Amino acid sequence: MIEQFCFGRGLPDNASANLIDIYKKWRDADIIAELDKNRSDLIMVYQNITHDFNKASAIRSGNAFNIKESYIVGARKMDKRGCVGSHRYVRTFHADTFDEVFQALKANGYTIYAVDNILSYNPQNILDCDFPKKSAFVMGEEQKGLDEDTIRKCDGMVFIEQFGSVRSMNVACAASCIMFEYSRRFR
Ligand SMILES: C[S@@+](CC[C@H](N)C(=O)[O-])C[C@H]1O[C@@H](n2cnc3c(N)ncnc32)[C@H](O)[C@@H]1O
Repeated sequence: MIEQFCFGRGLPDNASANLIDIYKKWRDADIIAELDKNRSDLIMVYQNITHDFNKASAIRSGNAFNIKESYIVGARKMDKRGCVGSHRYVRTFHADTFDEVFQALKANGYTIYAVDNILSYNPQNILDCDFPKKSAFVMGEEQKGLDEDTIRKCDGMVFIEQFGSVRSMNVACAASCIMFEYSRRFR
């Protein structure tokens, strides 16, 4: 089942300390309405992200780039402090399975990319990928990456080129790179 992600209680009613000045005295509903005018079509999907702070960091970036929606698939638990209030303004959903998200995105005309750097899937450098405006990007688990079933459903795999010695970067950092590149092209 896909439903609105519930962030629970524990945060103050307004997150004004971290808002840009023009929004400081606005009500949340008005901020959301203003952001809605300028949301991109970008959708980010996070599959079984286990490290609590990673979900929060990715959601915060989703607000920074004002993306359309984020989907959290599988584990719900997270440390929402890392959102610094941004979760109020991002449309975030929870899904039990990737298949449900896949069906919904396809019904809405989305091209879906697995984001990982597994060479056996012949991934394309994101910089060389001619992805459409209605693109969704699926991020994998911190330890295991993306599972095979998910990868096979996607229309392709893209990777972020690295120049260091460690195999991969943190999933929230990788998601932010994708959001940045999408925004560079379509904003
Ligand atoms: C820490 S990685 C783990 C899997 C990774 N394949 C590995 O071998 O280390 C967690 C997730 O971050 C994303 N990621 C990290 N670095 C990436 C890169 N250079 N290119 C594409 N995705 C990356 C992917 O979504 C991946 O599933």
